[in-house]
Amino acid sequence: MRLAVLADIHGNLPALQAVLTELERLRPDFVVLDGDLINPMPFNNGVVDVVRTSDWAVVRGNHEFYLLDFGTERAPQGADDSERWGSLHWLVKRVGTKQANYLAALPDELRLQFPGAQPIRVAHGVPGRNRVGFYQNMPDEKVIAEIDPIKERNVISAHTHVQVDRHLYKPDSDDPMTHPHESGALLSGAGPLQPPAPAAETCRHWHLMNPGSIGLPLNGDPAAQFALMESVPESEQPGGWRVQHHRVPYDRRPVLEAFFSEGLLEAGGVIAQLFYWELVTAEPEIINYFRWCWANGHDPDAEDIRHSFIAYSEATGREQYVDERDPLKVARPT
Ligand SMILES: [Fe+2]
Repeated sequence: MRLAVLADIHGNLPALQAVLTELERLRPDFVVLDGDLINPMPFNNGVVDVVRTSDWAVVRGNHEFYLLDFGTERAPQGADDSERWGSLHWLVKRVGTKQANYLAALPDELRLQFPGAQPIRVAHGVPGRNRVGFYQNMPDEKVIAEIDPIKERNVISAHTHVQVDRHLYKPDSDDPMTHPHESGALLSGAGPLQPPAPAAETCRHWHLMNPGSIGLPLNGDPAAQFALMESVPESEQPGGWRVQHHRVPYDRRPVLEAFFSEGLLEAGGVIAQLFYWELVTAEPEIINYFRWCWANGHDPDAEDIRHSFIAYSEATGREQYVDERDPLKVARPT
């Protein structure tokens, strides 16, 4: 059984099409899509149309909820601010009824159980909370605190836009009298670069993976990213699934150009600009901007966001950094 795991397309249809071409070559038995199909890039209806006419299993991510909750009491605080949430405002005016209705009926999590294979729990973050995220180097304690309620040993999570493949172990009882020398002890996890720790019978074990992002990776690599999971004997891989991460370079110019031609940059303001930068650099431009603001006496939630963005740009030289990497601005060989 070979399972393709996709996530975080974010309205980037050219990236999805590049991955579809690669899937035609790899021919997985099944495809699961772990949320964030839409927002903040320009081809949201096109992405949803590809997905809703597929036979994939799909769950919703936090960006689906930004759309579905817009204008209700469930919307994030400040979502009616067209500067702070400019990309979402642009999307709300353009999303089709069929596409929105498809997103409205998606589940928030899944349990995949293929014949002869170990079960897999799928959620955009963790079940019940779609904004929880994991990284390859996150301390074991922090990861286990979030996945502890999950009964399945294999867990697919997305949201952070970085690829993860980790094994985590925890003594199967928190009772210090049961394991007096192991209380609170967590056996170190291992990614693909290290052999997994042995799964002792006294330990709980999880195999946690994140396929990375198709449309907006944040690991410094702008290629579209996804994963293949192959069902293997427990002796080969604790948990019974082996993970192989993939990257697919593609031409980003059509999606970058559509930020201009579709009016997204103009309507979406500073946040749309920062998302554009993330597409160029594959680095976390938005959180870096907010961190700079908080460290330098600016409050983008309280003041004109354009004011703090200009100050950030001038102080860090970030705009030039992005321009030097922008496929629309970098001179191409003739
Ligand atoms: Fe995402």
